[in-house]
Amino acid sequence: MTHRAQVHCSVQVGSVQLPNPIMVASGTAGHSTELSAYLDLAKLGAFVVKSLSAEPWAGNPSPRLSPVGTSMINSIGLQGPGVTAWLNTGYQALRGKGVERIVVSIWGRTVEEYAAAAALLADAPPEVIAVEVNLSCPNLDGGAHLFAHDPDLSAAVITACSVANRPLWAKLSPNTHLIPQVADAVASAGAEAVTLTNTLLGLAIDCSTRKPTLAMGGGGLSGPGIHPVALRAVYDCRRAHPNLPIIGVGGIGNGEQAVEFLLAGAHACQVGTATFADPRAPLRVLEELQRWCDTNGVNDVRELIGESHG
Ligand SMILES: Cc1cc2nc3c(=O)[nH]c(=O)nc-3n(C[C@H](O)[C@H](O)[C@H](O)COP(=O)(O)O)c2cc1C
Repeated sequence: MTHRAQVHCSVQVGSVQLPNPIMVASGTAGHSTELSAYLDLAKLGAFVVKSLSAEPWAGNPSPRLSPVGTSMINSIGLQGPGVTAWLNTGYQALRGKGVERIVVSIWGRTVEEYAAAAALLADAPPEVIAVEVNLSCPNLDGGAHLFAHDPDLSAAVITACSVANRPLWAKLSPNTHLIPQVADAVASAGAEAVTLTNTLLGLAIDCSTRKPTLAMGGGGLSGPGIHPVALRAVYDCRRAHPNLPIIGVGGIGNGEQAVEFLLAGAHACQVGTATFADPRAPLRVLEELQRWCDTNGVNDVRELIGESHG
């Protein structure tokens, strides 16, 4: 006998209501309907678009993806069509598949570039329910260190992105001990939530060629190996900011790993690298989360949020 239909799955992330807590992670499900042959995108909590800049961007040279054990390293370099082209094509295709909740991720290399991408979303249709600001980008105005490693710069980007006229989610980097301080700064600047985390800086070397596996040298590590790192970031951030909504992302491949993020303090989760091995992974994770709740007498996923803190 199953009671699964009775598990209440709807969650609130700031002012945004989601019918369930499982989304795809930016950059791992394309810009639009690339995965729709495998995955009913309309059933996700929300579809998160790969990061877009104001202008089209070619990304990095190949090779830009490489397996590392059960994890993965990439240096795609934020390839994308730009916000305007996406609104005219990618957005339309998602609507054609019945997708009603879209989170657009944006990036830039200067505060002005972030603001330009955000401004292009000011008149986007209401299905664009939030803008996720990918702060793991090098700041060309300041020695190329990542915005997300600097609380003041991160706050400046979020302030500049208010022109998008949507709820802002700030996506932070795990490669700093300043995560709670950056979270504090972006929340004060107007972010409704933080997404934790982006990829971990890494490198893989091919012993046969004696060279890095990626054309750019290093890249971002994702997948099962970073799950405890992202979980710790969520846990620490929840402890420092109990009222700040968090979206947990990093190495989720099954329902229990999503439960772990909720227990650590996340209000919702994103599934990324697991999708490369199993394009159905995000909805499978949702089913497994529902089954876990059913088996463990949890009627409402919101009961789990932050429970590990006692
Ligand atoms: C191939 C690839 C491309 C990615 N592109 C983006 C991106 O455009 N914007 C972004 O914010 N994160 C990007 N990410 C990071 C993911 O959204 C996610 O934060 C990270 O991979 C950790 O989650 P995972 O272990 O479930 O993949 C990318 C990750 C991968 C593997």
